[in-house]
Amino acid sequence: MGKKIGILTGGGDCPGLNAVIRAVVRKSIIIYDYQVVGILKGWRGLMEYGLTEELNLDKISGIIHRGGTIIKTSRTNPFKEKDGVKRIIEKKKALGLSAIIAVGGEDTLGVAAKLFEEGVEIVGVPKTIDNDIWGTDYTFGFDTAVNIAMDAIDRVHTTAESHNRVMVVEVMGRHTGWIAIEAGVAGGADFILIPEKSMDLDKICDAICKRHQRGRDFSVVVVAEGAKVAIQEKKEEEVFVVQDDKEDAFGHVRLGGIGKLLASEIEKRTGFETRFVILGHIQRGGSPTAFDRMLGTRFGVAAVDLVHKGEFGKMVSLRGNKIVAIDLKEATSKTKRIDDQLYEIAEVFFG
Ligand code: F6P
Repeated sequence: MGKKIGILTGGGDCPGLNAVIRAVVRKSIIIYDYQVVGILKGWRGLMEYGLTEELNLDKISGIIHRGGTIIKTSRTNPFKEKDGVKRIIEKKKALGLSAIIAVGGEDTLGVAAKLFEEGVEIVGVPKTIDNDIWGTDYTFGFDTAVNIAMDAIDRVHTTAESHNRVMVVEVMGRHTGWIAIEAGVAGGADFILIPEKSMDLDKICDAICKRHQRGRDFSVVVVAEGAKVAIQEKKEEEVFVVQDDKEDAFGHVRLGGIGKLLASEIEKRTGFETRFVILGHIQRGGSPTAFDRMLGTRFGVAAVDLVHKGEFGKMVSLRGNKIVAIDLKEATSKTKRIDDQLYEIAEVFFG
């Protein structure tokens, strides 16, 4: 029996996490004769007693199609907890772990990058439905979320058309508009608002009116939760809509509600009856698409190979159709935003 690897999933859950866990366990046990320990509830599991369990072939059997994560998750920041880093280092040693595979988004991977600098042997796997991790063409979970959102936009379309209404669909996307752009274009949305681009609400309303005058008397507007809108009451200053002012351990506020604000502004300015839907966590739940199962599987296998080669402080990533390794520090240094080329394609279909 060789090394013992710990695996954890942190931050918001996402379809495809179980595919990664399954791949890590099978590659470790079958190919390298390693043991795998599941660290429960993200970084919390490495700071608290009793939050680990052995992952054997039985435990990971029949999970590839399941959403969520069998080892649970949390938004825990060890750098904000008393003796958090010290406790992680001690617990890793006590468990006899040669390395940790951390599966997560910007926050979990940011912690991984800092722990690597503290001497912890770590490999990262990028996960988020938002698809905003730098250095990888795609994160798993994104494709599933886009397909769920596209399906919702399709459904909203037929009801918008029947009632001659404007329908606003709010999708997830804290810093970036990847889900909004891809689901919006694929679903035939008439306008898409994203955090990366300011859009003048008056211009959107004018375009909606022109669209309705030329006989297309319904519209579908897609908005990412992190987009900002300028409204008259706020003297045209841009507002960011949050559910409340509470922050999580990484300083993020809970977003959600811009769709409602936008719908009421559009109705006020155009006179067209307008409704909104907020897709929320529906986009994160349920069974992953084939693409996400495959990407999660490829990432999991590649992460174990990095551990085997002793290449720590790296994150597996998809470049073109190849899985490569990049420095965790680089991957967590910036956010992957919508590029102008993709946005210009989306703009062709506005109005
Ligand atoms: O980071 C992914 C994400 O889905 C964001 O788009 C969203 O703002 C956030 O997670 C919601 O997180 P929670 O489930 O903690 O409310």
